[in-house]
Amino acid sequence: MRLKSSCASCLLAIATSPLLVEAGSVCLVSLVELLVPKGCRVTLISGGDMQPPKKILCVVDRGVWQHHPDLLDAITSYCQHHRSLMSLVCPPLVVPGGECAKNDLTNVATIQEAIHQYGICRHSNVMAIGGGAVIDMVGYAAATTHRGVRFIRVPTTVLSQNDSGIGVKNSVNAFGKKNFLGTFAPPVAVLNDADFLTTLSTRDWRSGISEAIKVALLKDVEFFDFIEEKADRLVDRDMQAMLWLIYRCAQLHLDHIATSGDPFEFGSSRPLDFGHWAAHKLEQLTHYTLRHGEAVAIGMALDSTYSYLAGLLPKPDWQRILGLLSALGFAVYTCELSLYLHDQRDTRCIFTGLNEFREHLGGQLTIPLLERIGRGIEVHEMDEQMMSRSIALLAEYQSTST
Ligand SMILES: NC(=O)c1ccc[n+]([C@@H]2O[C@H](COP(=O)([O-])OP(=O)(O)OC[C@H]3O[C@@H](n4cnc5c(N)ncnc54)[C@H](O)[C@@H]3O)[C@@H](O)[C@H]2O)c1
Ligand SMILES: [Zn+2]
Repeated sequence: MRLKSSCASCLLAIATSPLLVEAGSVCLVSLVELLVPKGCRVTLISGGDMQPPKKILCVVDRGVWQHHPDLLDAITSYCQHHRSLMSLVCPPLVVPGGECAKNDLTNVATIQEAIHQYGICRHSNVMAIGGGAVIDMVGYAAATTHRGVRFIRVPTTVLSQNDSGIGVKNSVNAFGKKNFLGTFAPPVAVLNDADFLTTLSTRDWRSGISEAIKVALLKDVEFFDFIEEKADRLVDRDMQAMLWLIYRCAQLHLDHIATSGDPFEFGSSRPLDFGHWAAHKLEQLTHYTLRHGEAVAIGMALDSTYSYLAGLLPKPDWQRILGLLSALGFAVYTCELSLYLHDQRDTRCIFTGLNEFREHLGGQLTIPLLERIGRGIEVHEMDEQMMSRSIALLAEYQSTST
């Protein structure tokens, strides 16, 4: 398995390797030893034209560091041990975790300044260890310096391991808009270590499951059956069930990126973004108090309900979807869905999310909906009255199911 930095399909090699789900220890030494086969490890750290030792700048999510206080020393010792291959340019930088990493642009400046100060070149490595937000932010900083330096992702949440970590996008929020500044830049490697998952809060353990449900709903009914069958075990934090969920979800995302023919989204559709037009708007309306995965769960409940009311999705399928989300502990409704519905020019009205979604993708409005569990369909118009009825139905569902 050789890695090239320029092609999305090379990432498939890492994510489809069985090693992905057999990670053993949280310390970086065993993380790299376990996850990356020997020849590949050399390619990873010392790839490119330049002779080793290659420079590496490491950035760590503060939330991860707080739960793994030995991590910074482990990174330093690892690099010292492998000094013929790599040179850690400074002690790992610790940055705020969560969405504030993407909301405060001084974080980007900090990383860019370090790249400048320590002479990180296009053959050096920047490595980010953290949740999806920190990885998005550091990836953006890495992609915009020297027009792109090598970037290694070590995702530490369910969502970042099964979805964002293996994608090709990097971004930060600006002008009140989610992911407004960003790049398409594949990482040179993605390393998933299961031990990081043991320290996640209940919310962050659950949150990423919604992205797995999303891809199952669009593409794989058997995967949906699996999540439904294992719902209780997932709630009980069964690691084996979670590892298969992450593996299958990552694989489906990678298959899509590698084979859809549009990895850099030149078209106006984003087939995997089921439930995301509302999710991105809800994140913004709740001032990011909702996690991305939680907002996606509500967005999917909304678009499933709309699909059902529009006569696209059979009622039993709709009931199974809402039943699964609720069984996992997701809310399917939040009051921000219902505010300012009478004034669709008010930016606090959820419907403005449709136009923001269209604007972000460019071209014609294209929204993924469902025909049945396991099969998505794209539409180019949304009926706002039917959407209002969907919101009312969800509010009722939520009040009767809690
Ligand atoms: N680039 C993409 O393709 C893509 C796709 C989906 C989502 N995203 C982005 O990912 C972000 C959400 O990422 P997320 O769900 O990973 O949440 P997050 O990055 O917001 O992290 C949530 C919290 O978990 C903490 N944390 C991280 N790892 C931990 C660990 N192992 N133990 C304990 N705490 C830990 C963080 O410090 C933070 O407080 C959003 O900004 C979303 O837009 C990007
Ligand atoms: Zn998402």
